[in-house]
Amino acid sequence: MAEALVTLSAIRKEFGSVIANDDVDLTIHAGEVLALLGENGAGKSTLMKILYGFYAPDSGTISMDGTPVSFASPREAMGTGIGMVFQQFSLIPALSVLENLLAALPGAPWLQPRRSVRVQAALRWLTRLAPNIDPARPVRTLSVGERQLVELSKVLNLDARVVILDEPTSVLTPAETERLYGFIRTLAAEGKAVVLITHKLADIAACADRIVVMRGGRVVDSALAKDRTPDALVDAMVGRGAVGTLMPPLAPSTSVPMFQVCGLSAEVQGRFIRDISCELAGGEILGIAGVSGNGQFTLAEALAGLIPVTHGDVVLDGISIASHTEDGAIAGNVAYIPERPLDNAAVAELDLALNLALRDARCLPFFPKRDTIVRQAEALMARYDVRPPKPALEASALSGGNLQKLVIARELSGRAKLVIACYPTMGLDVLATQAVYREMFRQAAEGACVVWISEELDDLLSYAHRIAVIHDGAIMGIVSRDNADRQTLGRWMAGHIMDAA
Ligand SMILES: Nc1ncnc2c1ncn2[C@@H]1O[C@H](COP(=O)(O)OP(=O)(O)O)[C@@H](O)[C@H]1O
Ligand SMILES: [Mg+2]
Repeated sequence: MAEALVTLSAIRKEFGSVIANDDVDLTIHAGEVLALLGENGAGKSTLMKILYGFYAPDSGTISMDGTPVSFASPREAMGTGIGMVFQQFSLIPALSVLENLLAALPGAPWLQPRRSVRVQAALRWLTRLAPNIDPARPVRTLSVGERQLVELSKVLNLDARVVILDEPTSVLTPAETERLYGFIRTLAAEGKAVVLITHKLADIAACADRIVVMRGGRVVDSALAKDRTPDALVDAMVGRGAVGTLMPPLAPSTSVPMFQVCGLSAEVQGRFIRDISCELAGGEILGIAGVSGNGQFTLAEALAGLIPVTHGDVVLDGISIASHTEDGAIAGNVAYIPERPLDNAAVAELDLALNLALRDARCLPFFPKRDTIVRQAEALMARYDVRPPKPALEASALSGGNLQKLVIARELSGRAKLVIACYPTMGLDVLATQAVYREMFRQAAEGACVVWISEELDDLLSYAHRIAVIHDGAIMGIVSRDNADRQTLGRWMAGHIMDAA
């Protein structure tokens, strides 16, 4: 293989008592896609933030092209061609795409060439990566996938030779993900080094040349991607034997419907569902498959009684809960894990203890004492492995995966008659995903009806009792797990009901 472009040697970084990087060695070559793998908390982001000049290592050295370097800031790292796209983006929502790109160009304003030349320089990569994004659009109107491409253009504008992407696919739709894989391969083919931080095996299969696996702050495996099976990678990430097998939930013990949805139609901001009907017995798990953006969000909100419905009814244990937007008794019976938990299920400015107490606050006639909610929060965060487990920390300070765990801890730890879970494992690693499924299945085993919206077709086929497919706001069909096959589900997802002739 070619000479190393970047070499990190014996990098060590501690945060208080946590050793985030424990004598890590890593080499990065031009023209390759290096996947940096590991579970949440393995130390991947820290290592790359050290290379990017965001953190100073406690000890260890970095060299580029064989020469020792040391970066006091990201600006210095960028000056030598190292660029990083973070999990949390740094674009300014109120400014346009072009303004954001211009603001990121190097050099003081008085040294800039004429404006038209600058605009050309700023749009150089965007026109390649995302010709459909109008540079005049305010960033706040862009989808997450579009924002990520603007962010990537910003990094590439600075002539990055090393492009670090921190879990870029965890927020993208399948189509956006495919497109990003294409760009990643193109960048490597043009001689750039791409570091892809991820915990998804699909990312490896799609575009990694080499893998380095981290666990507990150390490198535990390093190989060519083609020399590792998916099972070997999971073992390396979580430790051999750590992933238990998850038993498929038992069949519900009753067929008496406890949750009934009759002819339900609703619409929020142009996103609608129409004429949806289904019945669930207590203990039954109904998976809802479908391409995201086909009414899943509206369905979840309508089932949870959070939005007014235009037609039909939702009945839980004999009581209508449709359109009951402010009823605390309903909140007590319905556990709701919505999409985008930071926007829809947490209060960013409140601390973790209060966020965990929000359900009680709606169901109890009094608000518990601070001591009580802090103790409860500590217990829940330990059980659901929320990191860092600090009750007084603001929710906005948690990473996406940890916030998801926090919301799940709040919603699934109590008793519920109905669980509505939208993409509950999005952004979670293998072990956390298993933990969420266990809690969901436990709710079913204790008699709750579970509506599980997911894009993980394999998981639905393994664990849901029945699977419905939503397309364009309507249910295309419902089958039991035993009778479900991928072809039929795929056709329903695409909006076709009949067999192809
Ligand atoms: N700024 C920080 N302050 C305190 N602890 C941190 C900080 N950044 C990371 N950590 C801790 O260091 C460990 C590694 O974190 P990180 O590098 O973000 O992991 P990964 O990116 O693999 O999920 C974790 O235990 C995390 O909680
Ligand atoms: Mg990270």
